[in-house]
Order: sequence, then C-alpha cells, then structure tokens
Amino acid sequence: MLAAQLPRPGLTTPEPNKSHLGFPVNAVAPTLGVNTITGEGLAEALAGAQVVIDVANSPSFEDKAALEFFETSGRNLLAAEVAAGVEHHLALSVVGADRLLGSGCFRAKVAQENLIKASEVAYTIVRSTQFFEFVGSIIEAGADGDAIRLSPALVQPIASDDVAVALADLAVAPPVNGTIEVAGPEPFPLDKLAGEVLAITEDSRRVIADVHARYFGLVLNDRSLTPGDNPRTGPTRFEDWLGQSTARNETAGKGWAPTSGAPPAR
Ligand SMILES: NC(=O)c1ccc[n+]([C@@H]2O[C@H](COP(=O)([O-])OP(=O)(O)OC[C@H]3O[C@@H](n4cnc5c(N)ncnc54)[C@H](OP(=O)(O)O)[C@@H]3O)[C@@H](O)[C@H]2O)c1
Repeated sequence: MLAAQLPRPGLTTPEPNKSHLGFPVNAVAPTLGVNTITGEGLAEALAGAQVVIDVANSPSFEDKAALEFFETSGRNLLAAEVAAGVEHHLALSVVGADRLLGSGCFRAKVAQENLIKASEVAYTIVRSTQFFEFVGSIIEAGADGDAIRLSPALVQPIASDDVAVALADLAVAPPVNGTIEVAGPEPFPLDKLAGEVLAITEDSRRVIADVHARYFGLVLNDRSLTPGDNPRTGPTRFEDWLGQSTARNETAGKGWAPTSGAPPAR
C-alpha cells in the first residue's frame, strides 16, 4: 500500500523524499512496521497524505480468513484516512469479482469494495485481471499427477508493472467515485496459456482442458474473468514478458518461478 503526498500549487515537494513518481510516497506493509489489521503505524504513515493506494492482500485465501482480512483492513484504513484528511482512496480489486460470488475469496473483494463505496472518502476502484506473475500459482493449483487440469475459459492477464503504471496515473487524477477495469492486451484460453509456460520452461507435464476444472472453487466461462468492453489495457504481451522473465531467472540460476500469492483453491 502507498500513501502519497501530491504536489500542490505553491507547495514544494521535498527532494529527499521524492519517489520516481515525482512526489513523496510512504510504502505501507507489515514488514515496514505498518499494519492495516492491528493499526500499528497507520496514523503516522498517512499523516500529510492526499492519496492512499490500497494494494494490501490477505495472507490467506481461505473464505473466512480472506473476508476478515479485507473487512478489518478496509475499516481500519478508511477510518485512518478520514482522521488524516486523505482525499482519494484508490484500491485494487479483481475483474469479475461481483460475478464470482460463489467463491469466498471474491466475496471478500466485493465486501472491501462495498466498504469503500460507503465511506466518506472519495475513491477509485481499479479492477484488474490476473497478473502474469500469478499464472504460475494457477498452473500449480491445477496440478494432477503428471498433468495440469485447467479450464479452457478465456483469461486476459496483465503484467503487474502495467497495473502499477495505471495506479500511478490514477493517483494523480481526480477520484472517479466508480470502477475502472484494467487488463492485458490479449485474451487466451487458460489451458493454452499454461501450455505456453510449460513449453518455455521445458516442463513435461501435459495440460488437459477440462470445462469442469475449478478456479477458486468456481467453474469458469469466457465471461468469468475477462473485462467488459472498454478496459484500460497494459501494453506488455504475455509472450514477451514470459521470455524476459525466463531469461532473467535463468541468469539468476533460479529457473522460472513467477508465482505470487497462495495457489487458488480447486
Ligand atoms: N495477484 C493478482 O493476480 C491480482 C489480480 C487482481 C487484483 N489483485 C489484488 O491486488 C492486490 C495485491 O495483490 P498481490 O497479488 O500483489 O498481493 P501480494 O503479492 O500478496 O502482496 C500483498 C501486500 O499486502 C501487504 N499486506 C499484507 N498484510 C498486510 C497488513 N496487515 N497491513 C498492510 N499491508 C499488508 C503485504 O506486505 P508484506 O510485504 O509486508 O507482506 C504485501 O505488500 C490485492 O488486493 C489483490 O486482491 C491481485
């Protein structure tokens, strides 16, 4: 999570604190001594901030734990923002969350969105498709012996760097008090996407397209995870990112391990 102090007319931005965005930014995370669940360090981190970008995530995707995390974190954060006079709450959610309410994890994201909408802080909710970095976790969640069993439903993943650029742009724009979707440039059937990854990593497991395979406990269709008609699209193509990511990891002697977060429940 980031708390940003935007430049104001007549206000000089203190040079030592400047982020690459050109204005001071406080990064907020438990490993940095700030916790939206316990409230530790929150008031200090938000002091003087005009914008908060909430990208905190639940350490657990289990239904009850995820709901408790997003409700508690959202309540504490929004209350601290009101106290600090924050003018814009920018939060990252998931494309299709309101179509996927059969899964506790997406119910938790919708609960987070509802708290934001009910708060007195002006807001922008950015719903993103799955990050490229998350595809490894999706593949492993589909592992079934020497095969990977995945839905052939369409997905339109995005590079997390492109999501960060969109968030940075929106942080310096007025709040829309609504929802904006961001997605990658190309849709793929999920099983084909996994096949590309296994091929480039020389993983010999087979990918089996299975319309009944579950994603966070849900059977998918082509509308489950794809954006509406006018998403903001990131420029990075999956194939290019995959090639670069593989090359980087090979140079570091790590192999390809682009996982992020806990694997989705099957
Ligand atoms: N991954 C995806 O494909 C995807 C797609 C669409 C939307 N999203 C949304 O994007 C957001 C970020 O997802 P991600 O995959 O980047 O998550 P992530 O890699 O798990 O990162 C989560 C961040 O939340 C911080 N955090 C955890 N508990 C916290 C607490 N109590 N107080 C303050 N910060 C806390 C962590 O801090 P530490 O570093 O200190 O642990 C970490 O920086 C989430 O809201 C998620 O729902 C993700």
